[in-house]
Amino acid sequence: MSENIAVLGLGLMGSALVGSLLAAGHRVTVWNRTPAKADPLVAEGATRADTPAQAVAAGSLVIACLLDYPSTHQVLEGTPLEGRVVANLTTGRPSEARETASWVTGRGAGYLDGGIMAVPQMIAKPGALILYSGSRTAFDRYEPALAAMAEPRFTGDDPGLAPLLDLAMLTGMYGQIAGFLEAAALVRSAGYPLGEFTASLLVPWLEAMAAQQPAWAAKIESGDHSTEVSNLEINRAGVENLVRAFHEQGVKPDLLLPLKGVIDRRAARGLAHEGLSGLVEEL
Ligand SMILES: NC(=O)c1ccc[n+]([C@@H]2O[C@H](COP(=O)([O-])OP(=O)(O)OC[C@H]3O[C@@H](n4cnc5c(N)ncnc54)[C@H](OP(=O)(O)O)[C@@H]3O)[C@@H](O)[C@H]2O)c1
Repeated sequence: MSENIAVLGLGLMGSALVGSLLAAGHRVTVWNRTPAKADPLVAEGATRADTPAQAVAAGSLVIACLLDYPSTHQVLEGTPLEGRVVANLTTGRPSEARETASWVTGRGAGYLDGGIMAVPQMIAKPGALILYSGSRTAFDRYEPALAAMAEPRFTGDDPGLAPLLDLAMLTGMYGQIAGFLEAAALVRSAGYPLGEFTASLLVPWLEAMAAQQPAWAAKIESGDHSTEVSNLEINRAGVENLVRAFHEQGVKPDLLLPLKGVIDRRAARGLAHEGLSGLVEEL
């Protein structure tokens, strides 16, 4: 079904979203603070709006993809939203999403918050995912249209959930990047080829370790941190050994030290017999 969709914000991501919606046959009206960014999309079939209100008047689904929540508020301020569904795909914090949801629904519109788990080049391609939270009714109504941009995944009624899960996924990613950077510095200190280490040793190892994480999640959900794999005392000694080896190689273990701190704190509470999953209780 072809929908009338307004898109506010034509940066790198907003433009990619519009391209995918046009390709799926939707009627898309676009607005951007810097009007020239609409030119290529108008050439592809989008309709240009001179103001956010003009765009919103033309779309029953309003997709916002702006810099941040304050700019989203600036753009939607004074724009009639009655009867619309606003899908805010701007990155922000859970508290901002909840506050924006109240503000938008108070003006007679449905609200979905979204976390885009993709870069612009991945939009409309396999592997692109957008997390949504907020109004289930709005999600069900527009799911086929949302699917044109990326796999849409509804996560719950709390509008703050999609940004929270987005941030949680980024947290996992940054943790992995931190580990990679420390490993790279250590490998480089020995003059070993980093590309070879990464492709043939590190990546298969990380994939095997990541496959264990659902079991860790089950431990954390049960609150039972007992282990038959390796206890905190062994890991405390292991990380201590790592840190000493880094110093001996002339490499700073700065990104590892916070982990060591939490392990030490947990062990100091007399819980060194538990597994690493228990560290979550210290956080
Ligand atoms: N790019 C990615 O890989 C990616 C991935 C996931 C999520 N996201 C999220 O998607 C959102 C947009 O990212 P992007 O990559 O498209 O950024 P971008 O290329 O920098 O575009 C930012 C957009 O926000 C507009 N804007 C900024 N301040 C504004 C204001 N005060 N009033 C009105 N419009 C304003 C800009 O308008 P002008 O053109 O006039 O400057 C532009 O349309 C961000 O929240 C980002 O975190 C991006």
